[in-house]
Amino acid sequence: MSNRMWGGRFATGPDAIMEEINASIDFDQRLWRQDIRGSLAHAAMLGETGILTRDDVNVISAGLKAIEAEIESGTFTFSRALEDIHMNVESNLKERIGAAAGRLHTARSRNDQVATDMRLWVRDTLETLDRQIADLQLALAEKAEAHAGAVMPGFTHLQSAQPVTFGHHMLAYVEMLARDRGRVHDARERLNECPLGAAALAGTSFPIDRFHTAKALGFARPTANSLDSVSDRDFVLETLAAASICAMHLSRFAEEIVLWATPQFGFVKLSDKFSTGSSIMPQKRNPDAAELVRGKAGRVFGHLQALLTMMKGLPLTYSKDMQEDKEGTFDALQSLSLCLAATSGMVRDMEPNLKVMKKAAGLGYATATDLADWLVQVLKMPFRDAHHVTGKLVGVASARGIGLEKLTLAEMQDVEPQITEAVFAVLGVEQSVKSRVSYGGTAPANVRRQAKRWLKQLAKEQQ
Ligand code: ARG
Repeated sequence: MSNRMWGGRFATGPDAIMEEINASIDFDQRLWRQDIRGSLAHAAMLGETGILTRDDVNVISAGLKAIEAEIESGTFTFSRALEDIHMNVESNLKERIGAAAGRLHTARSRNDQVATDMRLWVRDTLETLDRQIADLQLALAEKAEAHAGAVMPGFTHLQSAQPVTFGHHMLAYVEMLARDRGRVHDARERLNECPLGAAALAGTSFPIDRFHTAKALGFARPTANSLDSVSDRDFVLETLAAASICAMHLSRFAEEIVLWATPQFGFVKLSDKFSTGSSIMPQKRNPDAAELVRGKAGRVFGHLQALLTMMKGLPLTYSKDMQEDKEGTFDALQSLSLCLAATSGMVRDMEPNLKVMKKAAGLGYATATDLADWLVQVLKMPFRDAHHVTGKLVGVASARGIGLEKLTLAEMQDVEPQITEAVFAVLGVEQSVKSRVSYGGTAPANVRRQAKRWLKQLAKEQQ
């Protein structure tokens, strides 16, 4: 049997393989809410403009709402023969209300319909992601406030660099996530134009009111060019790009958690809720959630690359290739959402080991810069000379296998005679972080202030 939605000029139905490659219902059924929302708005506009009678619009709307309830309840049967969500809904509508169902598709096409559904879905999802990112920021800012002064090693090249505080480290991620949210907002703002009414590609001769439809669906305005309307997937790409950057941030943090949770680092203990055991090694606590957050980032990036590649050779306007935008997008955004939830959970439960971190903060001559700065500030040495002197002192201490603070004054004066007893005050890690009071620096007072600022801002947003 040929397809009853478009089978007029077809004598037979599709080959089984054709149906298999063509049908998208297995994955695009996820768009059902958006599809029905779009159809309700389109029908209302057709009534408003007198293109359909009020009676038809009422019957169509009631039918669509009944379908919505049925899908919601899980009893709706989707059919592959009907290809996609649009035709599944329309065909079911026909069974329910008869001939009037056939008028719903007046002045629209599946091309503008799918573009609209997808925009609505991406918009809804961006809003959820934004709330999830904000929740992670909150979890991090709370940890930051609680541990604003907890000293830990700061690294460059994963080598001990200078002491910082745990709170400062947490707030670094709050900043990254704030930029991620900025990208999410930008993507949402830019996608917020309504393609419905562009029809197949050229617009329509019916006296439709696209501003009416756009408004009903919460869009800022209709899209301005019908060709662009049905062929644009920038909004998906932009969303996947924003998602990729956010996933990259989560992955970096996950990598740190994996390192910190090892017995060798021992900086944090993950809760039982976010760890797993080994089936053979009874002592193990594995940070699987963090590893999966790190691992899933690859999937998100991959979907961005796949969509860029799929789009790059398509002539205007719609081509069926574009149906391939969906599975990757759903998977990428669902993965990111899961990663955000898992990271928030891990952060809330994570217990930093303050003693271990503080001890580690002093390793690797982490206060050497403080010593050099002291030589500059107190002895008025040029920084380059101070760097050289400090390097020598580190050499002496390292040859003896001790920390800088364990050198005697005499040993220091062998290298630089002007050094006085007062130098020892700057060699401690607490003193080091306290001194970093420059704006954005790691001094506990700064960190406390920044954590409070974030907590206040996030609480305000929730009102
Ligand atoms: N299932 C299709 C998609 O996702 C809907 C649009 C089909 N349009 C068409 N002209 N065949 O892209």
